[in-house]
Amino acid sequence: MKSLPRIEGALQDALATVTTGCPPGLAAALRHAVFPGGMRVRPRLCLAVAHACGAVDSPVAEGAAAAIELLHCGSLVHDDLPCFDNAAIRRGLPSVHQKFGEPLAVLAGDGLIVLAVETLVHAAAHSPDLGQLLLLLTQAAGMPSGLIAGQAWESEPKVPLVAYQRAKTASLFTFATMSGALAAEMPAEPWRLLGERLGEAYQIADDLRDMAMTSEELGKPAGQDAALGRPSAAARHGMAGAVGKVEGLVRSAIAAVPPCREPGLLKTLILAELGRLLPKELVLLAAA
Ligand code: IPE
Ligand code: IPE
Ligand code: MG
Ligand code: MG
Repeated sequence: MKSLPRIEGALQDALATVTTGCPPGLAAALRHAVFPGGMRVRPRLCLAVAHACGAVDSPVAEGAAAAIELLHCGSLVHDDLPCFDNAAIRRGLPSVHQKFGEPLAVLAGDGLIVLAVETLVHAAAHSPDLGQLLLLLTQAAGMPSGLIAGQAWESEPKVPLVAYQRAKTASLFTFATMSGALAAEMPAEPWRLLGERLGEAYQIADDLRDMAMTSEELGKPAGQDAALGRPSAAARHGMAGAVGKVEGLVRSAIAAVPPCREPGLLKTLILAELGRLLPKELVLLAAA
């Protein structure tokens, strides 16, 4: 089966296990946070690595893919709250707090983190790698260099740009690549660098789009990094410099693909993603 229907199915299953009997407002907020999705880039990466390592229809890979997307969706709910980026729209729709209020948005974000762990435990209950998978997921979410630590850098007087972006964004990509390898019963560590580089490239490209595109094009408020004084790779390096960084990181990500059964397929997929990360108009604008 193609990866997107597998991801959507695994996410639907995960939500179905917790929304029956749940307070209806929270159930609706959880659904709004997850559906309709965005690009599902992290779970697609996880399934692509599993496939490249020889696990074609692995339920463990599906569980890991769903888990990382749930964690990501939860992080967006929290990121949009008034105490963080105060964003009223996400994926072209009202953000979760805008539609359901702040108390349910805080709880939905928390709930999605918990559901990510639960989903992984269900999917990998019989895998000898369950312990390692769980540790990788909690490291991606937590401290000192996961998502929570990444967001916390915004509360410091001085922010180290690369550490900030690696923690808030690349940590989830690292889980995607490493868990994909584990689902195929391959060692995870060789896949760390690929996730780190792709994640860093992804956040720099997001900073560029925030600077150069409109809210309508993005489906979320544009120009936020400047408005909120957030550290931004596009502001730090200039648009052309940031485009060069994304291209360099994607090239070195491709070079970092470890030996596996189908490296070619994975490399093609990563290159295709680059075209989406940096739309032609943005590259032209940066060069002007
Ligand atoms: C947005 O992530 C937050 C960043 C880390 C840049 P995505 O661009 O993957 O958001 P969706 O899931 O596709 O909406
Ligand atoms: C993305 O940060 C990383 C998260 C932890 C959510 P941003 O604040 O740059 O992401 P967007 O632009 O709101 O999607
Ligand atoms: Mg933010
Ligand atoms: Mg934000």
